[in-house]
Order: sequence, then C-alpha cells, then structure tokens
Amino acid sequence: MAEALRVGIAGLGTVGASVVRVLAEKADELTRQCGRSIAVTAVSARDRSRDRGISLDNVKWFEDPAALAKSADIDVFVELIGGEEGAARQSVRAALDAGRHVVTANKALLARHGLTLAEVAEKKGVLLNYEAAVAGGIPVIKTLREALAGNSVGRIFGILNGTCNYILTRMEAEGLSFDECLKDAQRLGYAEADPTFDIEGHDTAHKLAILTSIAFGCRISAGDIYMEGISNITQADIQAAGELGYRIKLLGVAQATETGIEQRVHPTMVPTASVIAQVHGVTNAVAIETDILGELLLSGPGAGGNATASAVIGDIADIAKSRPGFQHGPVFGWPAKELKPYRKARMRAHAGGYFIRLTVHDRIGVFAAIAKRMADSDISLESIVQHAGGKRSDDQKTVILVTHETTEAAVRRAVEGITRDGHLIDKPQVIRIERAG
Ligand code: HSE
Repeated sequence: MAEALRVGIAGLGTVGASVVRVLAEKADELTRQCGRSIAVTAVSARDRSRDRGISLDNVKWFEDPAALAKSADIDVFVELIGGEEGAARQSVRAALDAGRHVVTANKALLARHGLTLAEVAEKKGVLLNYEAAVAGGIPVIKTLREALAGNSVGRIFGILNGTCNYILTRMEAEGLSFDECLKDAQRLGYAEADPTFDIEGHDTAHKLAILTSIAFGCRISAGDIYMEGISNITQADIQAAGELGYRIKLLGVAQATETGIEQRVHPTMVPTASVIAQVHGVTNAVAIETDILGELLLSGPGAGGNATASAVIGDIADIAKSRPGFQHGPVFGWPAKELKPYRKARMRAHAGGYFIRLTVHDRIGVFAAIAKRMADSDISLESIVQHAGGKRSDDQKTVILVTHETTEAAVRRAVEGITRDGHLIDKPQVIRIERAG
C-alpha cells in the first residue's frame, strides 16, 4: 500500500475539529477507498490549551500557519483559518509555492485571490481543492467542474448562505425577530466570525463569484456583484409575500444576458410552490440551468462543522487517490490563463418582476399618483393591493404592488417619482421576483 497522505491543518475551530474527528472515526473506510491512509501529522491553531474534544497526540504543533504550510512533514495543507488576507492568504500561497496540495474552505480568499492562486497551483502541478468554500457540504464544485463538462450554463442561482436561510425560515415559521434568529445561528456555529458578512450578502457574493467563474469560464470578479442583504426584511414583507404566493429567500444569481453576465445577491421573492422555496433552515440549494442537461437542483446542509468537514474530507480523499504523473484538472474547470475577462451586465438592464411595498399617507389621490408613476415608466402591474396592515396611525396605509416583467431602470425611476410625490411615510421596500420552477 502507498505511504500515508500527511495532512497539516491550520485552524481548529468548529470545522477543523470536525475534520480531525471524522478522519479518525472513518480511518478504515477512507484507507480502503483511497488505497492509502490519511494521517493528520501537524496542526496550527491559536489556542493550544483549549479542549476541542479531539485527540491530537503525536501531532506536531506550529505557532505559525505559514511555517506549517511549507513544512516537509506534510503533503497537503488544509486552510481553515478564514479571511481573505493575513495568515490565510500567506499560508495558502506558501503551501502552493512549496509544492504542497491545498484544501481550503475559504470563499473570501478564493473570491479575491483565486485566479492568482490557481495560476500558481497549475504551474506547480498541485491541487487546490475548495469544495467546502461554496454551499457547505453540497458537491457543487465537482458537479460544475466535472459532471457538467461540455454543458453551457445559462443561469445558476441558489441559497448559498445557511445563516440567512435559517433566519428567514424561522422569521416566517415562528414569527420571531431577526435578532433572535441571528443569535441562534451564531450559537449553532453557522454564522461567520463577523455575522454582517452573512446578513449583508458578502458571504453569498464570495460563493457566487466562484460559481460564476466555473459556470461561465470567466475570471472571478467579486467586486462586480450587485449586493443587498436581508437586514431590512421585516415581518410585513414576509407576510405580504405569503399572501401573494411568494416566499423570501436570499439568492445569489448569475445569468448570461445580451449585455454580459449578471451577478447579483439580494432578497428575492420565489413562488411558494417552487422547489427552491421548500429549502428551509440552514440548508443550501443551487439550481443550474444548462443547454445539454436542462435544470438541475442540488440541495443539502450549507453550514456547520460536519457538513463543511464532509466537503473538506472529500477534497483530501481526492488528493489521496491522485498519483504522481496524474494530470490534475484546472482549478476553475478551465486553465486559469484561458479564463475570459468577466463581462459585466448593467444592473439597470436587469429584467424581471418586482414586489414593491409602500407605506403611504391615507389620503385621496395617493393610489392614483402611484398608478400614474408606474404607467409613466411603462410598468404593467400584475396586482395592486391596499390594506391597513402594520398600521401605526389612522393616517397610514400599506400599498403592495407586483409588477409584470419590467426593468430595474424603470422600477427605480417609478419609485423615485413616488418618493418625490411626498405620499410616503417610510422608505419604499423593493424586492425582485425570480423565475423558479
Ligand atoms: N456563514 C456561512 C453560512 C458558513 O451561514 O452559510 C458556510 O459558508
């Protein structure tokens, strides 16, 4: 049997500890599957004395993750530190430069520096595996890179952040406040170290940037993503969505259009009957539409120690199974030097339906003024409903509009006009509607 694959792990938080534990528990199965054993030989973590419930006997400790990354004691460097700069970036770069394979769950790092890191990995002939970086335990990277080779993707969209989906699900099902749900997500180990990364859409954007590159064969361009988070979603929106046959999800969407590729992250109305609307709690889902296969939906646990560890271990096992001389596939499915520049579609050209919730003064002419602004912007309305829900005073009414397909530019123009008319009590709420089967 071949020699053991020696693994060094930097970062022993929820995910790192799960990886060490599962590698020990599943040692026999993994050895039989890979034809060699997998041994954690070295680790690096901030707090050496903390009880993580795992055995680290005979494992070498490194204070400096970059020193571990370069160490001759390991074949694979597993980066679970997180963050797009600092120790994570330095240690991954050091490992690749030293000719070590790398496994990482770090979406922020890949979204910002993935192209450079892929070029180094491909030059050195080592693997840079990152299944855990997108959608937790769902094998979406393998699916896109390997199973869907030859397919052209038209649209890829999904629920990519477990924390947001957990919050939205519980707000709807239990009527809880946003803050209560966020605290529970943190307690359960789903949220990022800084949860604003989750709730303001950054985490989804990082994952979407990676998916876009593989799906469309273009360079990663995280800075070009239109982004809105869920922190301004209220019970009023959730209830109105339900009444109209929709559910609110934070989606990341990448879509080929005539003017380029749209990349957007925002709260989205999806039909309650659609499959993606049935994805609840910390579960993630990715829908992929291609010319050959048609529509595919993958769903599964999107965050948490074991889900993420499952993807990390799959990546380590792929390295254990690889042999010298085996030609590794390119990191983003296409050789890094052949990735096309990203061609950005204009957000104002985005076409789709819109949900608009307005809190207005209850007086004569308001309804007519709103309808006129819509007509002036060539917006056709599917429905317009007025009710007293969420009323703070007798002078207040809620007006909910659902448009037929229109453009972002037209909706912004109409909403600016309505705001200027002076009938609004609160900021207007605009939520895009996404076509979903
Ligand atoms: N904070 C992330 C989430 C963890 O909630 O999905 C997985 O990337």
